Amino acid sequence: MSEREQWSSKVGFILAAAGSAIGLGAIWKFPYIAGQNGGGAFFLIFILFTILLGLPLLLAEFVIGRTAQDNAVNSYKKIAPGTKWHWVGILGMITSFVLLSFYGVIGGWILIYLFKAITGQLNGLSSEQYTAVFNETIADPLLSIVFQLIFMLFTIIVVSRGIQKGIESASRIMMPALFVLFIILVIRAVTLAGASEGIQFILKPDFSKVTSQTLLDAMGQSFFTLSVGVSVMVTYSSYLPKNQSLPHAAISIVSMNIFIILLAGLAIFPAVFAFHLEPNAGPVLLFNVLPTVFSQLPFGMLFFIAFLVLFLFAALTSAFSLLEIIVSVISNGKPEQRLKWSWILGLAIFALGVPSALSFGILAEVKIFGKTIFDFADYTVSNVLLPFGALLISIFVPLKMKRSLLYSELKKGNWLKKGLFEAWYITIRYVAPPLIVLVMMDVLGIW
Ligand code: PFF
Repeated sequence: MSEREQWSSKVGFILAAAGSAIGLGAIWKFPYIAGQNGGGAFFLIFILFTILLGLPLLLAEFVIGRTAQDNAVNSYKKIAPGTKWHWVGILGMITSFVLLSFYGVIGGWILIYLFKAITGQLNGLSSEQYTAVFNETIADPLLSIVFQLIFMLFTIIVVSRGIQKGIESASRIMMPALFVLFIILVIRAVTLAGASEGIQFILKPDFSKVTSQTLLDAMGQSFFTLSVGVSVMVTYSSYLPKNQSLPHAAISIVSMNIFIILLAGLAIFPAVFAFHLEPNAGPVLLFNVLPTVFSQLPFGMLFFIAFLVLFLFAALTSAFSLLEIIVSVISNGKPEQRLKWSWILGLAIFALGVPSALSFGILAEVKIFGKTIFDFADYTVSNVLLPFGALLISIFVPLKMKRSLLYSELKKGNWLKKGLFEAWYITIRYVAPPLIVLVMMDVLGIW
């Protein structure tokens, strides 16, 4: 039998898992959803959900993966043999499939912008012109599909080369670079004239905008950005050697994620207010605001190109994880099957994403429950499938894994204090399931 692959180091694992977490969710989606939900209050609720639910669930996925050391479906089978719990893994695969189908569309937009920036088509435009370019771009069927395909091809090629060679080596360089560039961007944004209103918008909560839908959005967003509820983190932690501390890794990843989200907010909202743009502009927000800020910097277009490369990279590392979970199950750990299945599944996901891509143009009028195809796919994944997957995981862990076993798994690497373990266990067992159900039912109007 061939050896199971492993990450070459703990840093490699943290970077790859953080790479899965940090992506379009933190950089593109969070700012526009926060912008639509009043800013600071959403940010605060998001942080609370991340600490109360996201972090404990991330740890729960880690503990499942490393205990079982197998793929997202077999891990459940190994821990609870003869039960139906492996359906949690299958649900995760289905969720990943749908998620990646629309994720690739936005990935394609980044590539289009990169192409336009490099060929000088974005130089010196006004903010209205940037909005017009964006609207034209996403409505163009051929352009969006071709670039969505290119994004998926990158994803397929890396995943087909295997975990360590592909994902880890790329993450090592690009993640730190992303942080540095964001910091430069924030410094420019917060020093713009009129920036303070934007800083207040994201840091000062205004609870008058908060509804039950805001709570569900914030919860869904916290799962989305941490890649939780899909068993992706089960898969990634299954490649981690036994002597590494899982809680330490989880806390590092959550902190990095929150930090990047804060940086994204502080890069975007001060500029939104300084340039008198609308914070609730929706998906256009980043693609309109950032070129405008960059054009205020010396060598702005060069910085913008660098930013797009790193943004693309953040999106790709998340996409890798989504394809990886499916490929690792279907190829059942056999390296010789990896290449074939990466291509078959990756192209099938691309095909499923085509209607989402077209829903910004020729299919804009097609509505499912009042939403465009893209919005419907995103809403179903973020606000139904991810919370449901997270709910099942929070029931599975205390039900099927012994407390003593959990403690010994989490204690490895000598980092965890007993009190912290107890807090985690109580949260996963008693807080997470009812809280997730409550937030979901409230929006569905069940009470
Ligand atoms: N966390 C990714 C992002 O925020 O862009 C999206 C994601 C990746 C969600 C992998 C879920 C997942 F399993």
